[in-house]
Amino acid sequence: MLNEYIEMKCDYTDLKGDEGILTEYTGDFLQGFYVKDAEEFENWMLKTREILRQNRINKLYEKIQHYIDINDYEKVENYGRQIINIDAFDERAYRILMKSFINIGAFNKAIDVYRKLTETLQDELGVYPDGETRALYEKAIELKSAKVYENKKKEEFFYGRQEQLNTILMNYYGFLNSREYKAPVIIGEAGVGKSRLKRKFIDLVENDLFIIEAECYQAEENYILKPWNNVFSKLWDIINNEKIDVPLVWKNIIASVFPIFYDDADTVRVNPVEGISSLKFQVIEEAIIGVLKKVSTIKKVIIVFEDIQWMDATSLSLFSSILLHGENNHIFFLCTCRNEYTNKIESFISTMIKYNKIEKTNLQRFTKEEVREFSLNVIPECTNNEELMDKIYQETEGNAFFLVEMLNSIKESGSINIMSSKMQDIIKSRFLDISEKGKELLKIISMFFDEAPLDVIVELTGNDELEVIDIVEELEKKFIIKEIENNSGISFVFTHQKLREFIYLQLSYGKRKILHNKIGKLLEKNLKNDKTDILTYSKLIYHFKNANNKESALKYSIKNADICLDFAHELFPVINYGGPILKSQFLNSEQVNEYLNEIEVLLNEVADEINDHKKILEYKMVLYHMYGRYFIRDGEYLKGKEYIQRMINNALQIEDINYALKGYRQMIYCGIQTHDVDLMNNYLEIALPMAAKLVDKKEYGILLRLKGLGKIMSCSFKEAEELLIQSIKIFEVISKDDDRFILNIAAAYNYIGEIRRYNMQFQSALSYYDKAITITEGKKVLTGLSLFNTNAGQAAFEIGDYHRAKTYFLKALKLFEEMDSLWGRSTAEGYMSFLEVKEGLYKEALNRLKKADYYSQKIKSPMEIGIIYRIKAEIKSNMKNNRKLNDVFKNYLNLELEDYCSYGIEILKNINHGYEADILKVLKSK
Ligand SMILES: Nc1ncnc2c1ncn2[C@@H]1O[C@H](COP(=O)(O)OP(=O)(O)OP(=O)(O)O)[C@@H](O)[C@H]1O
Ligand SMILES: [Mg+2]
Repeated sequence: MLNEYIEMKCDYTDLKGDEGILTEYTGDFLQGFYVKDAEEFENWMLKTREILRQNRINKLYEKIQHYIDINDYEKVENYGRQIINIDAFDERAYRILMKSFINIGAFNKAIDVYRKLTETLQDELGVYPDGETRALYEKAIELKSAKVYENKKKEEFFYGRQEQLNTILMNYYGFLNSREYKAPVIIGEAGVGKSRLKRKFIDLVENDLFIIEAECYQAEENYILKPWNNVFSKLWDIINNEKIDVPLVWKNIIASVFPIFYDDADTVRVNPVEGISSLKFQVIEEAIIGVLKKVSTIKKVIIVFEDIQWMDATSLSLFSSILLHGENNHIFFLCTCRNEYTNKIESFISTMIKYNKIEKTNLQRFTKEEVREFSLNVIPECTNNEELMDKIYQETEGNAFFLVEMLNSIKESGSINIMSSKMQDIIKSRFLDISEKGKELLKIISMFFDEAPLDVIVELTGNDELEVIDIVEELEKKFIIKEIENNSGISFVFTHQKLREFIYLQLSYGKRKILHNKIGKLLEKNLKNDKTDILTYSKLIYHFKNANNKESALKYSIKNADICLDFAHELFPVINYGGPILKSQFLNSEQVNEYLNEIEVLLNEVADEINDHKKILEYKMVLYHMYGRYFIRDGEYLKGKEYIQRMINNALQIEDINYALKGYRQMIYCGIQTHDVDLMNNYLEIALPMAAKLVDKKEYGILLRLKGLGKIMSCSFKEAEELLIQSIKIFEVISKDDDRFILNIAAAYNYIGEIRRYNMQFQSALSYYDKAITITEGKKVLTGLSLFNTNAGQAAFEIGDYHRAKTYFLKALKLFEEMDSLWGRSTAEGYMSFLEVKEGLYKEALNRLKKADYYSQKIKSPMEIGIIYRIKAEIKSNMKNNRKLNDVFKNYLNLELEDYCSYGIEILKNINHGYEADILKVLKSK
């Protein structure tokens, strides 16, 4: 019996409370206690011991999770170590420790933890840590090396953000080491510190890399492909500086979208085969990806887009397709984005996340504690001034921009009146004791939404360069302005847009108007009349609009639209990959309409203001031309023709014959596209005599060729050939002085070749193709050579000269290799496949046929698809008597011969020239 007066105390019950197991349970249950020969007791004791131990560990993990959630890594470390004390083999705890050390940038500690774990495991169990733990270790090592590099550099103050920086760096190392990685997107509110974090990252990695940075500005949100234009302009410099050999075809293709890529602005582009548009979006995309790849073989490339919330829709779509279709290991993309984003950016981000192409990293405002630490770094003398620290947090709410401005203000003015001021006044105080000249300069720099070039400032202010730089120095010391240097010279920008806005908004409307107009005029004077001008248009429009100089704004809006719409049509109707999700992001006709409408509104305003009737007609003419061209290319022929007709009327009124002829030509092209020979003839009848009267006979020569084409389309081959020969004669005369137009001759020869081929005069067809090929060889053209060789190959094939056919096809395919999806590729591949069958190379032939199929689907030309059916039918009919051939092809060609023939005939039935359908009919009846 136990004495009932003794107060019983059992510390076991203390363990039951919520915290008890953590505070009270410090050693094992009944540690050191032993009862002799009591096996049952022993079992019970061990079991209880284990349960308690497990309870304690679970509780510790709970605690850890809580402190991870509130970012208190000190506590996390403390509890993590406790777990390790209880269970030295619990790798999960080691990982938690490592992770929290990595998060606070204590990489050595993380590495140390790993070493301890390895030692323990090796000594006791002879094993190594898990892959997951090892990955953390490697991460710490990599991040540490970046950190070492960082220490070598003396630089601007940067505080915290280790976690976000790690996310970016990890992806970057993935990229460097050719592992999977995603493009980081730094997201956060205005002024939170996105750009600073980006700069920090760039500082860390800036080694032997090409770094291309492109900003997106609100003022340019509606300019098609503006940020990419900047990227390509920089790529162009790199390509030239490093003498990177980029295939001419790629250059030409890219130049059609980014004119900066024109090698030789003088080359006159001729599409030698009318009626097909050679530039599908995939082609452009391929060329772009190709060039990026080329450049990145010299050095790795980083492309940074700042503020993608202002990226235009077309740029976003190009960006998506590069992310989706480019091989990942060539370019590292990094973006910053405000979190106030719109639909288009939201769908971009969510789609790219879905495909694992980007990783969001969110930047939050600094916490109260962080604000305090940040501040003490800048103003260590205020260590004990709690009141000031409270005030700083209260006013800035942890926003980095406000914080920096406030601290700068305190540093400059002492903290005297800070206590009673609001943020707005604090920012104002930053500009208080700036010299008069400095203030004037600030006003001027604030006129530019992007950067203010030194030379423009010099011209505006009348100060000389040194004077300006002196004044800027004062502003740089105050951290208001910073200097940037690039190819075009020195420029200045505000350290933050908000400071710019502050100054800009203080200027009177009248003063702004005058300054904008002056700047616009200066920039206008600096235009070089070459391909680089388009980079300036958006700026000109911005200044002239804000100067209320509507006419000049209109002039450059039209010029800009003219260039953009020239290719924009290529970008939307053909896209059909990646499923419907991507579609919404592409520039659609609604957007183009809006774009053009905006110009029209401006035009009408100008019309109200100026009395120059002729000039207004001229502007309208150019605008209608854009409308018409756009609608025709978009397949809205009725609307398109209407606008072109209006354009022609205007041109005739102001007697601008060249423009009228452009209009007629557009109508004729429309006829080609819609197979409307009557329409072609109608306009040819008006245009030809008009062009004949001009001294310059180029237009006449082209129109003759088009008339010839019309005759081909209506199968009047004899007349067609006569017209083509006339056209050739005209260009032969022109080419004596100026050989830029010689391709027009090649185009006509090719058509004659086609006429002969359609009439099964293959031998003479070949001689014409040869002429076309000889002229084109060595010339900078996009299509043409590959297509002429393909045509010639077909002719040689039909007369059974397989050897010669092969030579042509191989030449064509070599050209296609640089460029995947050009017209004619599937035809060349298809015929080559059949030639290989004839040579007994069945496996090669099968692979080639598959390729041919692929390209014909990509291009979607009925002619090419029809030709592939013909090839299939021919191979199929050979399979009957050839077992080996049959074995190789039986799975791929599993339809009946008759089916291939019928499909081919069906798809070719709308093409009234050519003999392919006839051949299929013969095969079918066999
Ligand atoms: N971690 C940091 N350490 C030191 N200074 C910082 C830090 N983050 C931001 N700043 C400073 O705060 C100011 C605002 O930051 P930043 O320009 O990066 O903001 P932002 O998020 O890019 O804003 P916006 O959306 O307007 O472009 C800058 O002066 C920057 O130098
Ligand atoms: Mg920024």
